[in-house]
Amino acid sequence: MPEPVSGRRAQRPGRPARPVRAGRAPRKPAVPAGDGERPPAGQAAPGDEAALELLASGTLEVEGRLVEASNATLYCSVSHRGVQAACVYKPVAGERPLWDFPPGTLAGREVAAYAVSRAAGWGIVPPTIMRDGPFGPGMCQLWIDADASTDLIALARSCDHSQLRDMAVFDAVVNNADRKIGHLLPLPDGRLYGCDHGVCFGEEYKLRTVLWQWRGRRLPGRALRALARLQEKMASGGLAGELAALLSPAEVRATSERIDLLIQHRVHPYPPENWPAVPWPPV
Ligand SMILES: Nc1ncnc2c1ncn2[C@@H]1O[C@H](COP(=O)(O)OP(=O)(O)OP(=O)(O)O)[C@@H](O)[C@H]1O
Ligand SMILES: [Mg+2]
Repeated sequence: MPEPVSGRRAQRPGRPARPVRAGRAPRKPAVPAGDGERPPAGQAAPGDEAALELLASGTLEVEGRLVEASNATLYCSVSHRGVQAACVYKPVAGERPLWDFPPGTLAGREVAAYAVSRAAGWGIVPPTIMRDGPFGPGMCQLWIDADASTDLIALARSCDHSQLRDMAVFDAVVNNADRKIGHLLPLPDGRLYGCDHGVCFGEEYKLRTVLWQWRGRRLPGRALRALARLQEKMASGGLAGELAALLSPAEVRATSERIDLLIQHRVHPYPPENWPAVPWPPV
């Protein structure tokens, strides 16, 4: 097995089943991404249900390809009964093979990341589902119109942003191997979403992120409460069942173990010792 050297290592370049137009400027989604309230006690954010319904039942039309993305990441519109939104569609067929993740599993990992974020009440991952589309089955995620005026580098380095800190805990739970600065999606009202969770849930500890500013620090109470919700939902089977449909049994077990460890030690994790701890490029 080759040594890990940088971000995602492709064995060969992937491409979509057929070419589509280059990406064009995103429009505002007609379905809002939540109403500004964080969901209580691990429920979906108020806007999530409508968005999930639209993503699942709507007609998907590819409008362009995000050219800088390494996988086939397609910018689409989804519409149903007069309601329309923008979304990202990543067909399984367009996934670049990676040496460290089984082929054809990245879309499922994105859906699993949404399940964890939702179950914890974090509201970090935009509504995400698995569905069929023009290039076959894939993940479909609500497009978030991020605030282009935010300085993302300054945001990523912030030490007193509670939602960014939630994201660091979320990344530790899902074992995110690719938290780049460009994966931060801040809204003008201060809320913060994150995207690109295809390389999460590896069994071995491979957290790779730009958010190490809290390493070794005690977890705040809100993180412990979110982790307790996750622990309870894994134990009662609800969340574990959702994850079992998307991940291997060993990956579901490893997720439970990471939650238990975080609750036991009550600190933000340290970087792995023999693994590049920061994605490259970091933006
Ligand atoms: N749901 C979303 N809402 C808004 N913007 C998004 C969303 N998903 C992705 N993007 C934007 O598109 C870019 C590319 O998407 P993403 O990172 O998921 O693709 P990728 O193929 O995994 O790319 P890479 O390997 O280069 O990181 C993101 O950096 C982000 O700017
Ligand atoms: Mg990306």
